[in-house]
Order: sequence, then C-alpha cells, then structure tokens
Amino acid sequence: MARVNYEELRKTIASLCAGEDDTIALMASVVCELHHSDDRFDWTGFYRVTGPEMLKIGPYQGGHGCLKIPFSRGVCGAAARLKTTQLVPDVEAFEGHIACASSTRSELVLPVFNGAGDVIAVLDIDSDQPDAFSQEDAQALEAILASVFSR
Ligand code: SME
Repeated sequence: MARVNYEELRKTIASLCAGEDDTIALMASVVCELHHSDDRFDWTGFYRVTGPEMLKIGPYQGGHGCLKIPFSRGVCGAAARLKTTQLVPDVEAFEGHIACASSTRSELVLPVFNGAGDVIAVLDIDSDQPDAFSQEDAQALEAILASVFSR
C-alpha cells in the first residue's frame, strides 16, 4: 500500500521543475509524480482555465476524463468558481458531481494560482476509496502547488 510522503514528493517535484516555466510541462511533471506516489490516487489531473468560466482538460494520469467543465458544474467548477479546495468524502453526496468514472467514491480538487493570485487551473484527484482524503492532503498539496505555480 503506497502512501505519499509529501516532503519527499515536494523535493522531487522541486528538482524536476527547477528552472522550468512552461505551465504544461510543469503540470505534466507534477501529475506524474503525484499519481504514482499513493494508491489512493486513481485519477490525477489538471483542468486549465481556458476562457471565461471554462475549464479544459490538461495533463492527467488515469482513464479518460471529460474534456471541458464550465465553472458552474462539478467539483472542479466549484473549486475554480469559489477559489477554494473542495474535499469531497462522498461524491454521491456532492450535488452536480461529474462522474468521469463510475468507480470514483471520493475526490479532492484544489485551485491552482499563478504568481498574481489568479486561478489558472484546478488539480483534480479522484479515488475509488470512500473518504480517501484528509485536511493533511489538502494542506500539503496546496503548498506544493504554490511552490510550483505561484512563484
Ligand atoms: N469529478 C469531476 C470531473 C472530472 S473527472 O472526475 C476526471 C467534477 O465533478 O468536477
């Protein structure tokens, strides 16, 4: 049972991303390391802000994800719209949840901010395990995302 060590993950991502400022390259590196760090993470990916109130899929690992999500829909739309992390222990209880996979039971979605404080994307992690995520996961990932995208 692989369980993420967030300090090790942070160091690995910092090393991989050092000197890089291409957002897609950074997203691809973060998703790859994150996805394979923990057995709870069954789908890991970014949705990018591509226009007013619109998210479109970015680098991800796992089965295919839906291509676009308006800010008005889903857990991802809520994270982008409210600019706050969405920790969902039971996706069935989240009104408007978008099920890209029927196996998903819980979800963690974090807004991604650039250095100016604008939301440029959301990071979506889905788990087939119920209530898989904690505030520790949320806080650690918020710090990692800030270190990569908000610098
Ligand atoms: N579950 C997300 C949609 C993205 S798929 O899970 C990859 C949502 O409700 O926004």
